[in-house]
Amino acid sequence: METSSQEINTYQLEERRYPPPPEFAARANAQRDIYDRDFDEFWETEGRERVAWFEPFTKLYEWEPPYAKWYLGGKLNVAWNCLDKHVEAGRGDQVAYYWEGEPDGDRRALTYSDLLREVTKLANALKSLGVGKGTPVGIYMGMVPEAPVAMLACARLGAPHTVIFGGFSADSLAGRLHDMECEVLITQDEAWRRGTTVPLKRVADEAVGESPTVQNVVVLQRTGNDVPMTEGRDHWWHELATDESECPAEPMDSEDLLYLLYTSGTTAKPKGIVHTTGGYLVGAASTHYYIFDLKRDEDVYWCAADVGWVTGHSYIVYGPLCNGATSVMYEGTPDYPDKDRWWEIIERYGVTILYTAPTAIRSHMKWGPEHAQKHDLSTLRLLGSVGEPINPEAWIWYHEHIGGERCPIVDTWWQTETGMIMITPLPGITTTKPGSATKPFPGVDVAVFNEEGAEVGPGGGGYLVLRKPWPAMLRGLYKEDERYRETYWSKYPNVYLAGDGARIDEDGDFWLLGRVDDVMNVSGHRISTIEVESALVDHKEVAEAAVAARFDATTGQAIVAFVTLKGGAEGSVEKLEELRNHVAIKIGAIAKPANIVFTPELPKTRSGKIMRRLLRDVAENRPLGDTTTLADPTVVDELRSREAEEQSKED
Ligand code: WT7
Repeated sequence: METSSQEINTYQLEERRYPPPPEFAARANAQRDIYDRDFDEFWETEGRERVAWFEPFTKLYEWEPPYAKWYLGGKLNVAWNCLDKHVEAGRGDQVAYYWEGEPDGDRRALTYSDLLREVTKLANALKSLGVGKGTPVGIYMGMVPEAPVAMLACARLGAPHTVIFGGFSADSLAGRLHDMECEVLITQDEAWRRGTTVPLKRVADEAVGESPTVQNVVVLQRTGNDVPMTEGRDHWWHELATDESECPAEPMDSEDLLYLLYTSGTTAKPKGIVHTTGGYLVGAASTHYYIFDLKRDEDVYWCAADVGWVTGHSYIVYGPLCNGATSVMYEGTPDYPDKDRWWEIIERYGVTILYTAPTAIRSHMKWGPEHAQKHDLSTLRLLGSVGEPINPEAWIWYHEHIGGERCPIVDTWWQTETGMIMITPLPGITTTKPGSATKPFPGVDVAVFNEEGAEVGPGGGGYLVLRKPWPAMLRGLYKEDERYRETYWSKYPNVYLAGDGARIDEDGDFWLLGRVDDVMNVSGHRISTIEVESALVDHKEVAEAAVAARFDATTGQAIVAFVTLKGGAEGSVEKLEELRNHVAIKIGAIAKPANIVFTPELPKTRSGKIMRRLLRDVAENRPLGDTTTLADPTVVDELRSREAEEQSKED
């Protein structure tokens, strides 16, 4: 009863239409004719306008499926584009980042000149440690301006980086440092989070102990609390990075490696997504320019993501800086010290563009609109959403309570793999619909295919695919060519399989329906079921584990684990906590199951495969499908009743 009335409600909200405000449309960076532009012409022009080259490219792209190259022959440096380009053009005094620390009153404004100086100093310091073109560097930091400084210092030297999200465990950090064979790790003593400190250096020490390639660790002093320093290996940032003399930006080939970013796949081992230099920068900068309608001398832009995710790479660091934007960067959580922290920040800096995730919007929704109402948000002119499908209720709340009903909302679909936004409204052109990411970005070819590989027309649904290469696309998985081909290119020949379900409506607008593989999406973060299962099975008392996601009103999905203990042992509340913490230790707190159901047996097919779909159904408490292939049908009822029991305990 309740479900069906909710469905009608959602359906009605989806039916709403929001044409671009005429004043916005008149001045928008993207005008209607942008959709008429030819693929080659569009990317060639963008390549020249958005990015400055030491040597111009001679060929737009080369496509040998499944590998593409872009802007061939071009030489450039990403840090030069993000810093020197603006300083040399006389824009050195413009603020690049307004940074707000979590502790009260902790604020800094860094101009483009300031940022260039800091990057130069760190680049010289890294050089003194032997870092040069091609030296892999790990970065494990919180949301401090030094995180972008570290990324840019690497880019300046041509040293590829991998940023590891500060919430990841020592094991996760070590795995990535080891896989990329990082020689240097840049970290900080501690980070501030919700009024307490996160021991980044301590975790880094543990990880470096297991990462023999790491020879030097550079440590930023952030909280100033005592942390152990290993003589000869560890260096304080402020002691090492003092040389302000010019550090020339290394001319890089368009296809040189810029960074790796690890993301969850459908196995326990994260995938190292490969991003190169020229195409990535053009893709990040052009999408940022058109989709966020950036007026660099007027706007104050805030992407509230973490630099540890791809959103932070493309839309806190590389895209905005290449475009000369003034950004806000915030260190802490939205509810510290109070639930109006974000809105206070928007008022303080006069933020005009806000880009965040549906899960954050739903948290604010839950806390109530009164927190936003305490502040003047009238500077806002554009809102963005990313990370998961945005439910129409959250979309409309965002529009009304944050955007004051005057700001267009861009719901942007993309992935770590795509490097840049792929499906999105253009704010001066598109009539938006709550819950739809609407149209492919110009120069991007998106389609929906059915199981057989035929294109699905308006009104249909199926698998989301990308048919043409795009500048910021991944150049494969690091050291895993087979896995790359298998994961993205094996279902349909020469077509990229995104792993998302989608439908197209009668207007040709895309609606994203979530993952179709064993990847969960918790608070906009990608987590693999198998990764969590491996972490659980790693515990000495666990015999078997299976993981599924269920709907959660705030985080989108929540992780439910089904666990069988060794020797037929019974579960307990204490064991549940112990296992949850074990997952946090193995992967990071984001992967902690919301719930663990202890069960004497897991449902399996006759061939012994765990029936994940069934578990998903149990987790969702939905009616079950056909269970005749179950080896032991009683497990189903058992599972279902235990899950209901656990849930009521939690509620
Ligand atoms: C997956 C990619 C892209 C940066 C953040 C996540 C989901 C992302 C949307 C959106 C519906 C979305 C997809 C995608 N996703 N944006 N606007 N609407 N779903 O990056 O960790 O690489 O995850 O996030 O499922 O495949 P990621």
